[in-house]
Amino acid sequence: MKKFICLGAMLCLGLSNNLFAQNIKSINVLVNKPTVKVSPTMWGIFFEDINFAADGGLYAELVKNRSFEFSKPLMGWKEIKGEGGNGTTLIINRGEANANNPRFARITVIGNNGYYGLDNEGFRGMGIQKDKQYNFSVFARKGSGNVKMKLRLLSADGKEIGTAALQAFTNKWAKYEVPFIATATDAKAHLAVEFSGGGVLDIDMVSLFPKDTWKNRPNGLRADLAQLLADMKPGFVRFPGGCIVEGRDLANRYQWKKTVGKVEDRELIINRWNTEFSYRSTPDYFQSYGLGFFEYFQLAEDIGAEPLPILNCGMACQYNSAEVAPLDHLDPFIQDALDLVEFANGPVTSKWGKLRASMGHPAPFNLKMMGVGNEQWDVQYLDRYKLFAKALNAKYPAIKLITSSGPSPAGDKFEFLQKELRAQKANFLDEHYYQSPDWFFQNASRYDNYDRNSSKIFAGEYAAHVKEPNNPKEAEGRNAWLSALAEAAFMTGLERNADVVQMASYAPLLAHVEAWQWRPDMIWFDNLRAVGTPNYYVQKLFANNKGTDVVPTLMDGNILAGKDSLYASSTIDKNKKLVIVKLINVSGKRVQVKLNQEGKELGPIQSWTELSSANDLDINTLDNPKNIFPVEKNVKLLSTNTPLELKPKSVNVFKFQYM
Ligand code: AHR
Repeated sequence: MKKFICLGAMLCLGLSNNLFAQNIKSINVLVNKPTVKVSPTMWGIFFEDINFAADGGLYAELVKNRSFEFSKPLMGWKEIKGEGGNGTTLIINRGEANANNPRFARITVIGNNGYYGLDNEGFRGMGIQKDKQYNFSVFARKGSGNVKMKLRLLSADGKEIGTAALQAFTNKWAKYEVPFIATATDAKAHLAVEFSGGGVLDIDMVSLFPKDTWKNRPNGLRADLAQLLADMKPGFVRFPGGCIVEGRDLANRYQWKKTVGKVEDRELIINRWNTEFSYRSTPDYFQSYGLGFFEYFQLAEDIGAEPLPILNCGMACQYNSAEVAPLDHLDPFIQDALDLVEFANGPVTSKWGKLRASMGHPAPFNLKMMGVGNEQWDVQYLDRYKLFAKALNAKYPAIKLITSSGPSPAGDKFEFLQKELRAQKANFLDEHYYQSPDWFFQNASRYDNYDRNSSKIFAGEYAAHVKEPNNPKEAEGRNAWLSALAEAAFMTGLERNADVVQMASYAPLLAHVEAWQWRPDMIWFDNLRAVGTPNYYVQKLFANNKGTDVVPTLMDGNILAGKDSLYASSTIDKNKKLVIVKLINVSGKRVQVKLNQEGKELGPIQSWTELSSANDLDINTLDNPKNIFPVEKNVKLLSTNTPLELKPKSVNVFKFQYM
């Protein structure tokens, strides 16, 4: 019996001893021959407001269309009446008197009976948690009478799960706030704002925030989502996109200056993903900019990542209108870029540094890099980039610039920009690949032969897209295990070439299960829960186990990049005195390996993290979030020099003490 248990334990740990001795692969990690440094920014995150990633997602505001600025001013709201009450809502446009936030709602309560009001549905409902505090606020101005406001948080089935009241409004616009505690949990709650007492009250910026935001910041971020990002320990945060930077036309482009300062002064615009895909139309998708550039910088700082803003370069999305600003009208675009550096880094005495300080951050954000344009291509991009580079390099020579390589990792557009921008000595070329798993497997050596003395690479957007045979209507597949496995294999090639590829980020980052436009995505959420995909865990494993220097990983004397379905990369961490070996087995078979350094033992082993799943199309869901989850193997049961058995289709991270 004892023997049986022992054998069982050995098999679980992958110690099937000499059963397959003839097939043991010997992998040589040249621990003492570091090749290149791993940049601290190597693995980062790409944030774009797509799939309800900001409003309805990371931005914790629960009221949708809080300032009545959606194209349909009452979208998300519905009129309510009770106990014999009556009234009207009139949307008034102040025009130039408040150009950024022109509309407000004039509520007239008719008579003294009952109540009249507006009920907000939230972003596919409001996620409310029992015993948690919620902070309601509203801008209001009394017109006449003595209107009182009652707030009732209601569950999906109409039960009151929280209530508060406001009254004594004055005839000047002012902000009124009241907290309340929720008595029940509901993912689909809604907020009734009831008016009574007879008279007229103007309202604007109707807001409901959980008190427990990320780092407890007012106007803050949803804590569970921000924590998942922080847990990755990303080296950088790229924001705000993506195509959202470009806009469908220039009027719809992202303009950072409209996203900073007081929240009530930020001008809402339609989200380009509202209308992009007819089969995923999202008519209630707008950008309130409550999560704006200040908040992005703060998030990056909070999670120890470098901020990486991408700015519009005078070009709208070339898949949409493809509008460009004329070259002799590019100055305002370039000025936005120059002013952004001042906003991030300038002294508090400078115009934009002063604004940063007034928002609560007198210290600089230490911006070191910036992207010029997103997925632009052709000569019109080159012309505009040159003007940006000239101005930015002259004023801020230390800021590194990221340039586009177009939307695909090969082809005419790509070749043209790579050649021309290298000739310009561009700092970083941003390569994007949304490709099949096979492409990722086949491209694990893509950077082995890149020029070491030319522009560096930012793998700014990538994801393996798995086609689902049973889902012919969808253009993209889900976050299936095969996609994560393929990305892991490919990422060994990025890490091995860390002198060339100095930054990489999976895309897109976040998606609401009821409001997405694009998939796959790294993290999925509903109003209360979030789930890391297998792709998230791959990213996290690489980012949490970077090391400081790359060391060669050889099998049969050659770099291991696909031979016998194995992919590998290794680093040493000089600070933590560790050797970190990443080994990906993409075959459907168990594989036995022995890790050594030039014939000598590698070790002692400190940890072995394994991520694997039996079927290519396995996924994590909100209801089964740990279906594919990293497992810490008990390495205490491993004896020295025992072969390690890699599961079929598995990602493995080993850590050894650096002798
Ligand atoms: O990540 C989704 C989109 O893919 C980005 O907005 C764009 O840059 C790319 O085409």
